[in-house]
Amino acid sequence: IRCMTIEELRQRLAEQRKQFPEGRIGLVPTMGFLHEGHASLMRRADEECDFNVLSVFVNPLQFGPNEDFDRYPRDIERDAAIAEKNGIDILFMPSVQEMYPMKPLTKVLISDVTDRLCGASRPGHFDGVGTVVSKLFNLVQPDRAYFGMKDAQQVAVIEQMVQDLNIPVQIVRCETVREADGLAMSSRNVYLNEDQRQQAVVLSRTLREAGSWLQEKGMTTQELTQRIRASIETAPLAVIDYAEVLTYPSLSVIALNQDLSQLSGNLIIALAVKFGSTRLIDNRLFELQ
Ligand code: PAJ
Repeated sequence: IRCMTIEELRQRLAEQRKQFPEGRIGLVPTMGFLHEGHASLMRRADEECDFNVLSVFVNPLQFGPNEDFDRYPRDIERDAAIAEKNGIDILFMPSVQEMYPMKPLTKVLISDVTDRLCGASRPGHFDGVGTVVSKLFNLVQPDRAYFGMKDAQQVAVIEQMVQDLNIPVQIVRCETVREADGLAMSSRNVYLNEDQRQQAVVLSRTLREAGSWLQEKGMTTQELTQRIRASIETAPLAVIDYAEVLTYPSLSVIALNQDLSQLSGNLIIALAVKFGSTRLIDNRLFELQ
């Protein structure tokens, strides 16, 4: 069932709750142009919940003035078919006018975890994400919401917001789904030309190799970061936006001379690399003993 308006969505959810008061409701927020990564979130939701809502909304609030809001790829008929095949009960696809009938004067601002990575490269991005995701949580009031670790900083931001504001939803972290050669699936991969697409594999390959560099005795943050950068730069078309080694989920900086083998807890290696005007991100988490 497609809901274009908030009114329709609320009505359908009310009927569902009346009929199945104990039913668990799942939410998968997306910006559409769905791929296998999105589908894996929907399937997980379908396994764990009784009734699932997929939102498809390209949120203008999270795009910068020189970003790709206007050319963000869209194909709502294809999205609807994928949603139906993967156990979605309601496809919520509101217009910008429906979500923002006027400029919102209330925003959700999340600090610290947004200081680095995409938070630094895309000022205001996570304010837009926090605001739209809290609107979606208020509209759907899901028991569980599904997010991909492809956007690991987004997961950290949403988990922080949910904790800080006592939003009664369980955030489910889902693994990154990759193409056969390792490239993380993304709606933006369609922007890549043939050469860029071939070289884009350097992100996942670097992350895989970084896993073994991390095992080396006495490996420091600085040495690891340098090797990561050098590895990415073997691709002539790659322009590094960031390549960082941080703690996860707090996303704090680790001292450059820190011997990583002496560290415990979770560490993230996060990359953002441009190929032409297309910016790709990828990351990997490591558990240190
Ligand atoms: P979008 O980029 O469409 O992604 C929707 C969800 O799919 C996110 O949780 C994202 O992490 C997940 N996802 C994307 N690619 C994936 C992959 N290869 N493997 C696993 N999961 C993947 O992220 C957004 O939209 C927006 O910021 C949103 C949360 C909808 C707020 O507007």
